[in-house]
Amino acid sequence: MYLFLKNKFVIGVSICGTVVGVAAAVKDYMQGGKFTKNVQADGKVVIITGANCGIGKETARYLANKGAHVYMACRDMVKCEEARKEIVLESKNRFVYCRECDLASFSSIRDFVKQFKSEQKRLDILINNAGVMRCPRSLTKEGIELQLGVNHMGHFLLTNLFLDTLKTSAPSRIVVVSSLAHTRGEINVKDLNSSNSYDEAAAYNQSKLANVLFTRQLAKKLEGTGVTVNALHPGVVDTELMRHMGIFNSFFSGIFVKPFVWPFLKTPIAGAQTTIMLALDPDLEKVTGKYFADCELKDVADQAKDDKVAQWLWAVSEKWTGTLTGSAAVS
Ligand SMILES: NC(=O)c1ccc[n+]([C@@H]2O[C@H](COP(=O)([O-])OP(=O)(O)OC[C@H]3O[C@@H](n4cnc5c(N)ncnc54)[C@H](OP(=O)(O)O)[C@@H]3O)[C@@H](O)[C@H]2O)c1
Repeated sequence: MYLFLKNKFVIGVSICGTVVGVAAAVKDYMQGGKFTKNVQADGKVVIITGANCGIGKETARYLANKGAHVYMACRDMVKCEEARKEIVLESKNRFVYCRECDLASFSSIRDFVKQFKSEQKRLDILINNAGVMRCPRSLTKEGIELQLGVNHMGHFLLTNLFLDTLKTSAPSRIVVVSSLAHTRGEINVKDLNSSNSYDEAAAYNQSKLANVLFTRQLAKKLEGTGVTVNALHPGVVDTELMRHMGIFNSFFSGIFVKPFVWPFLKTPIAGAQTTIMLALDPDLEKVTGKYFADCELKDVADQAKDDKVAQWLWAVSEKWTGTLTGSAAVS
């Protein structure tokens, strides 16, 4: 009896060991492309939106370690300061700053830009990273559906307000964190603001398609200025992005779903690799209007190549953000 139980125990342990080993190997494989060039960013001035957690925080950490002056543009100053302290302690780079910027409020965005411009003459890299996914229907301060408002409209305003500084700092770069979800997206020209009906997945996909359309349209407007703009998909990354998706946040899911999904998720630093490459790779200095994933150039979905929709979205975004007649309007 004793021998029988002992054998069962040994078999059980070796099966567990094999499962853990396979899961670790799958996890390793799923981390995707890595930016391996050793490029310094000494003195480069960088803004990263949503830098207090997830992909944005790892991007901030990496660039701080490379000597950049990093502005963490966040809505929650307590979380931002916590992340900043951690990054400063690790990188020994004291040029890491927390600044308030709520992308769901145009006045907050304008205040942030005003303060930044009073502190800095140049901006080398703007990283539009912040995002919200599949939240219950809610609105920005100006009444824009939140996912469209934060993921696209807020960044549209922010970027336009910085174009003058980016141009005088050229060569400079804009990096737009989009998603593979753009391939499932559709710009709802009849009900862009989801006022008649709201589907949280469709609204997220629409906002991420808007990111790619914006990137391609802006690249055309910036031709010859020395300012590049490229978009990316970071992969499926283990961050706080799913905070609004109850099914992934329950006790049940913690025990029965997460362990099975875990091997297939990138870590936040792996998810930041393509952002870092687009921000730093010297070989990309003249590359603009493109879309990357896993540190490789990728094709975009057909609906992201629709120039008519891109122009329509640009015109609506100008109207809604008030950049049409303002000094920030792109000529
Ligand atoms: N994770 C993935 O699998 C995945 C896949 C494809 C694309 N992406 C994209 O990657 C980007 C980064 O997401 P993540 O995965 O790192 O998610 P995350 O951990 O949830 O980080 C999102 C960041 O955006 C900030 N944010 C949200 N609403 C904001 C607002 N109104 N104003 C300013 N900042 C705001 C969050 O701040 P708070 O902490 O204060 O909320 C947080 O810092 C997003 O654009 C997302 O769409 C992620």
